[in-house]
Amino acid sequence: MVLISPSMLSCDFSRLGEETKNISLCGADMIHLDVMDGVFVPNITFGAPVIGAIRKYSDKIFDVHLMIKDPYKYIDDFKKAGADLITFHLESDSDAIETVEKIRSLSIKPSVSIKPSTPAEAVFPLLDKVDMVLVMTVEPGFGGQKFMADMLPKIKKIKDEIDRRNLDVMIQADGGIGEDNIKALYDAGVRCFAVGSGVFGANDRAKAIAMLKKSVE
Ligand code: DX5
Ligand code: ZN
Repeated sequence: MVLISPSMLSCDFSRLGEETKNISLCGADMIHLDVMDGVFVPNITFGAPVIGAIRKYSDKIFDVHLMIKDPYKYIDDFKKAGADLITFHLESDSDAIETVEKIRSLSIKPSVSIKPSTPAEAVFPLLDKVDMVLVMTVEPGFGGQKFMADMLPKIKKIKDEIDRRNLDVMIQADGGIGEDNIKALYDAGVRCFAVGSGVFGANDRAKAIAMLKKSVE
């Protein structure tokens, strides 16, 4: 099974609701929402009020990727906004275990992400506590960056550890994903793909999503 989670960062923000509806009808499995605070990453996007406002435009899984300094503080807000899955960064200031427990206590799926410079082993202590690990395949902050192929061995390491411990944890990759690298990511163990420009930059979004899925067959 392969899940495509189009990143709304690359859509037309002036029509965020309609874009969310449109991409849901184009075969998106999830809606990837990049929250940036201008502190954890050098860019500011949107927060819980905006996510809450577009919630009614889709019944897909709202896959919220928090690139913020203190995610723990805002978990309740994102629950109210309608998040189904929340990814926070291991490099953030929040305590990872407390943040995972807080997310789970609200019946949301917890997920932890690591930046390119953070080693695979850093997430090992959390593998039995999270539903997903998001491996960044670009430096977080902006869409449209070049895929970092050197993240593939790191993904494989995490996948091997998940299998060795017989855990049920999905791996998501995010950044620079397209038809040219999705198969390599799949082979390394990724089953969920956050794709921004690769979907929203295409003339035919439905075809782009279908082609991404076909590329891993
Ligand atoms: C980057 C974001 C990504 C980004 C992906 O910090 O987390 O989700 O939107 O965009 P592309 O696919 O264009 O690299
Ligand atoms: Zn993201």
